[in-house]
Amino acid sequence: MNPIDRQKQASAAAAALEIEDGMTVGLGTGSTAAHFVTALAQRAAAEKLRLRCVSTSRVTADQAVGLGLTVLPLDDVETIDITVDGADEIGPGLSLIKGGGAALLREKLVWESSRRCIVIADAAKVVATLGAFPLPVEVVAFGHTATARRIDAAIRALGLSAEPRLRIRDGVPVQTDSGQLIYDLACGALPDPVAVATALKRITGVMDHGLFLGLASEALVGGVNGVSRLGR
Ligand code: A5P
Repeated sequence: MNPIDRQKQASAAAAALEIEDGMTVGLGTGSTAAHFVTALAQRAAAEKLRLRCVSTSRVTADQAVGLGLTVLPLDDVETIDITVDGADEIGPGLSLIKGGGAALLREKLVWESSRRCIVIADAAKVVATLGAFPLPVEVVAFGHTATARRIDAAIRALGLSAEPRLRIRDGVPVQTDSGQLIYDLACGALPDPVAVATALKRITGVMDHGLFLGLASEALVGGVNGVSRLGR
């Protein structure tokens, strides 16, 4: 395991210790979240914890079920006690960019149903200003090129330059679990993420974007000297 992956694993293990018997737990998506699912399943088995989980993606649901965790649809739970998920960037006030794994819409739906959201990450994810990581935007497939033009215009109106790029993998557009497409916006530094989030949400073909603002309760960040807890 490389040093970055060790940091991810340490942050995930620390988050698993936050889970108590009887809780409903939101499971994130990505490599750090996968470490959390493994750590959670190990704890649940060792301590006979009765847990219900809600997953942010099919991939995570498959992993969790494979490890013996109970996964329910979001519709079947009234509230989620804690969601634990990774991030692509952690900025000031725990503002986040997420969606590198194309799960941003389901992630946000699960986060918004959660009483507490813990971000887990390696130290390289912590940044002074969001935006070095291209901002993922989930777009309805119908008319997506027209929507991309509207995104471009909205971003330019904010004095930024985006050049929305359709995410392609293995020669075909990436489809989300909900059947939508992802455009990545390489805007560079985002000094006003709220303005970007507001502008994107006004566009009809935009399902959601990877800016998670005011949603994270805390972050557990793995570093060379162990795991640090960051608050807002
Ligand atoms: C999934 O869509 C993302 O939001 C991930 O949580 C994010 O990309 C972090 O992924 P890693 O933990 O793999 O870095």
